[in-house]
Amino acid sequence: SLPVESVQEIVRNDPSNVPEKYIHDFDYTQTDVVLTHLSSDIPVIDLSLLSYGDEVELQKLDMACRDWGFFQIINHGIEAQILQEVKENSAKFLELPIEEKNKYSMASDDVQGFGQVYVVSEEQKLDWADLFILVVYPTKFRKWTFWPTTPPEFIKAIEAYSSEANRVAKELFGSLSILLGMEKESLLKLHDEVMQALRINYYPTCSMPDKVIGVSPHSDTSTLTVLLQDDEVTGLQIRHSGGWVPVKPIPNALVLNVGDVLEVLSNGKYKSIEHRAMTNQNKVRMSIASFICPQDDVQIEPLDTMVNGTKNKRMYRKIRYGDFLRYSLQRNMDGKSHTNLI
Ligand code: SIN
Ligand code: FE2
Repeated sequence: SLPVESVQEIVRNDPSNVPEKYIHDFDYTQTDVVLTHLSSDIPVIDLSLLSYGDEVELQKLDMACRDWGFFQIINHGIEAQILQEVKENSAKFLELPIEEKNKYSMASDDVQGFGQVYVVSEEQKLDWADLFILVVYPTKFRKWTFWPTTPPEFIKAIEAYSSEANRVAKELFGSLSILLGMEKESLLKLHDEVMQALRINYYPTCSMPDKVIGVSPHSDTSTLTVLLQDDEVTGLQIRHSGGWVPVKPIPNALVLNVGDVLEVLSNGKYKSIEHRAMTNQNKVRMSIASFICPQDDVQIEPLDTMVNGTKNKRMYRKIRYGDFLRYSLQRNMDGKSHTNLI
């Protein structure tokens, strides 16, 4: 990948400056249909009910994964303080001087550390975001040289939150296994040891929000993504009904989405939906995404329970997860293209 400068540094030097390579030829407010009135239809699921085996909530999860690919979860059991501390420490780190953050710079052959969205070509328009990425699970994969020691509580806060994100994902795996016609433990077993990569997205203010995008449209290469978004500043939009639906923050809730792997496992019943993050003229926005994935050696293909005869034809071919990931990253990340290729 090509080195890209920090967007936050651009804004720090001159809040009105937007370099050409970030400016799209079109104006999003003119070209795109934003269906704000549908925001309140994005399903909200009570994880405590789901975990008790509530049948109504289970059917709601099925509908959410089929019709939306996105849902929010409440009553997830994560202490408010854990959420608060991971947000605070992420902000403190990402607002350090650039010299300090550059100590954790992403190497060209690695995805971990401080940097920007993967850049494929010189001509590509760039996203208005700085990123910080860590592989947090399995713990044996942690590369401690990338774990910031400033602020001093950063590591503890990340550990506390990511362990909870794993727990939440595992609870959902139980319900999803049942919905996909399998034993409750099946999805967890298939993941062998759950892999979690955590990505902190930092979107500085932008003086041209109509022509600059925070994160370009994409679908996630994960099985599930657990997103902790800002409690007030909106930005996330998802594809639905031919337009884009903003995901309105519910304080202390988590946003969950179906990733490419779950789409394949479910043989297309559940959809890995394209989404994007917008920029904001007046407010900084941050979000923390936990990508819950299988390990590289796991073979991904539609589950037997989801393929039967002519009614449910096999829609995707088998691929090793590590190969799928490499293949997806080599392609331009613009738009949803990954799963179609399998
Ligand atoms: C992403 O999906 O890559 C970003 C999500 C967000 O910032 O809300
Ligand atoms: Fe995403």
